[in-house]
Amino acid sequence: TLERTLSIIKPDAVERNLVGAIFARLEQQKFRLVAIKMLHLTKEQAEGFYAEHQGKEFFADLVNYMISAPVVVSVLENENAIKNYRTFMGATDPAAAEIGTLRYEFALSKRQNSVHGSDSAESAAREIAYFFADSELCPR
Ligand code: CMP
Repeated sequence: TLERTLSIIKPDAVERNLVGAIFARLEQQKFRLVAIKMLHLTKEQAEGFYAEHQGKEFFADLVNYMISAPVVVSVLENENAIKNYRTFMGATDPAAAEIGTLRYEFALSKRQNSVHGSDSAESAAREIAYFFADSELCPR
């Protein structure tokens, strides 16, 4: 099925000038870009985005990290984009990520892991709507 997923290029990657390198790999993997914006998240935006992790021991550090520098959020489209982007990102912990994945190549740590991708169709719908109005999506 043709799916859309939400991607975030996180502060560690933006700060290291890796935005272009990451999008180049996504385009090589045939993901189609249908929306993109750069923004510096507020604390409230980061807490709301990660609401499902509220209460976890890493939550406060996660939020502080996500607001430490700008991020680049985008919507990627392809057959099975949700699962395929998760696979292409690699494991949350870069030490466990497979060779060839974005996190193997770029991530610094479990927290500073360079990219985010929606984990299900329900998450993708919520996360895309969290950052983009329908009018900002460019079908192709
Ligand atoms: P993400 O896929 O964006 O979703 C939740 C994020 O929390 C995750 O990527 C990591 O950046 C972070 N995270 C998850 N587990 C840990 C952990 N054990 N320690 C620190 N950060 C974590």
